[in-house]
Order: sequence, then structure tokens, then C-alpha cells
Amino acid sequence: MEELLKSLKAKAAELIQKAADLQALQEARVKYLGKKGEVTALLKGLGKLSPEERPRMGAMVNTVREELEAMIANVQAKLEAEVLAAKLGAEEIDITLPGRATRKGHVHPLTAVNDEIERFFMKMGYTVAEGPEIESDYFNFECLNLPADHPARDMQDSFYITDSVLLRTHTSPVQARTLQSQKPNSPVRMIAPGKVYRWDYDATHSPVFHQVEGLVVDKGITFADLKGTLELFLRHMFGEETKVRFRTSFFPFTEPSAEVDISCCMCGGEGCRVCSHTGWLEILGCGMVHPNVLTMNGYDPNEVQGFAFGMGVERIAMLLYGIGDLRLFYDNDMRFLKQF
Ligand code: DAH
Repeated sequence: MEELLKSLKAKAAELIQKAADLQALQEARVKYLGKKGEVTALLKGLGKLSPEERPRMGAMVNTVREELEAMIANVQAKLEAEVLAAKLGAEEIDITLPGRATRKGHVHPLTAVNDEIERFFMKMGYTVAEGPEIESDYFNFECLNLPADHPARDMQDSFYITDSVLLRTHTSPVQARTLQSQKPNSPVRMIAPGKVYRWDYDATHSPVFHQVEGLVVDKGITFADLKGTLELFLRHMFGEETKVRFRTSFFPFTEPSAEVDISCCMCGGEGCRVCSHTGWLEILGCGMVHPNVLTMNGYDPNEVQGFAFGMGVERIAMLLYGIGDLRLFYDNDMRFLKQF
């Protein structure tokens, strides 16, 4: 019986070690340790032995059974680890793949310029006002000293909705709206940025564009205040070395009126294509608020005086960034926008 046990153990061990998968291992277990297994049969057969032999043989068979059980547990652990590894391998996600980057946006160049203008004037104590883009004839023209039939209305071709309602042609109506919303003669220091509309379309004109209006009204405001303010502003935007000059001009809502030029920021005043070889660039319109405008909007020109100015944001951005065609601002071409 001892011999039999020995060879049984050897065969069982071989079968267990060779088991290629959990199924084969289970079959080996059943073959030797199952209810009808060969080792189990030996245990059952112990009863036939003599009482002297029984304990020794019993102990030997039990030892073999425990050894085989331990071996099976070992091989089972090994096979299970292999199964898991294979599964993990098959389901692996390659986390080293580069992700899909989202492109980071930034403010549009027109917004950047508009923000810079607002920042400058807010630091000077100006408030920022807004007005409607669909405006009445009354605010857009009438109370800016531009009565119907005034020839200066021809300076601004408009989009009319009805005879008395139009898309505003400039931000100047916000001057009138601001004055009318104020206690008469109380001081005003405001800028009004926003969209304006004109019947125009070419490389330097768009039917929609942006302006920033400015209005200061108080006791004793003079043309010197206007000059000082705009010189400071233009040097802030275009550089300290910028020269500023005022040319007499005409606007119905200011008297006197001026057009302001800066020394060409492309050539430094030498003369180039951008400044048409004059060395100067026209940059904004301004003047002392016309007494009629003050009167029509509830202020007394004998009590207070004011200055006003208006500028185009596109024009400033084109000059600052050296952009030749204003339509580029609205095309949303990434090759253009990415450069800012
Ligand atoms: N509103 C004028 C325009 O769009 C610009 C302008 C000129 C505004 C002189 C002003 C000003 O406030 O004083 O052409």
C-alpha cells in the first residue's frame, strides 16, 4: 500500500503541475481528491487494514492528501493570476495616447482695444455709459443740433427702420441721453462705447463698426482740458513719443470743432504709404459741446461748459496692429485671430 500511495502521489503531482488551465486542474482534483477520487478511495480502504497498520497508513494518506491540496491551491493561484493578467492585457487602455487639446481662446483684438480705452478713461474718473443701437431720429440727430434738412446729415448715411427710427450712426446720442438723465447742470464725465451702423463697405469701412464717445461737462471746462485729456490718452495708446495736433473742423454738436491727428505710428512721421506720405494720421473728432446741445438737453450753457470726442475703435486697432483691411476683424479666420 505504501508503494501504491507513492506512485499515486507522483502521478497526481504531475497531473496537477501540468494543468494548463483551471478546468484541467479541477479535473485533476476530482480524479484524486473527489468523492470517488483515488486518494479518497485509499482513505476509505483503511478500514480493511489491521488495527496496528491503520494509524500509520492513515497518517501517510492524510499527509499526501494535504500535500496535494496545497499543491492544487498553489497551481490554482498561479493559473488565476495568469487569467487575470491576460484579461487586463486584453482590456488595457493606453493612457499614453496624447489627449485632444482644446484650444484656448482670447479676447478679440477689437475687444482688447476697446477695453484699453475704457481702462484709461475709468482711471481718469469717467463712468461708462451705454445707449440703444436702434435709436430715434430725435436722439441720433435732432438734439445733437442736427435738425431735419441740415446738410450735415449727409455725412452719415443711415439704415432707417421707419422715418423716425434708425440704427444709430454714431455713439453721440448717448451724450444727449446722459445729459437728459442728469439733474440739469450737474457734472458729467462719461465715455460711451458701442456698435454703430452706416451705409458703407470697403477696406476701411464696415456697415457695423465700433466707436467710443466721450463727454465732460462741468463749470469752467475749456479747450485746454480737451487738449490735455486727448493728448494724454493718445500718448497712452500709441506711445509717449507720439505727437498730437488739432485741426479745425466741423461737427454740428461742437463749436469749435477739431479733428485730431497723431504722428504716423508706422513711420514715426517720416511719411509712408499708411499716412499717405503726410506723416500724420487722423484719429478722432472732438470739440467744445455746442451751446445748442446743452440747451436742448436741459443744461444751461451760461452755467456749464463741456467737451466731447468720438473715435472709431477699428481705426485705432488697425493702426496699433498694422492691419490693412478692416474686414479681417469680422471674418473670424483663425490664421488672423491667432496672431493677437
Ligand atoms: N459722432 C462723430 C462721428 O461719428 C464723431 C464725433 C466728433 C463725436 C466730434 C464727438 C465730437 O463727440 O465732439 O463722426
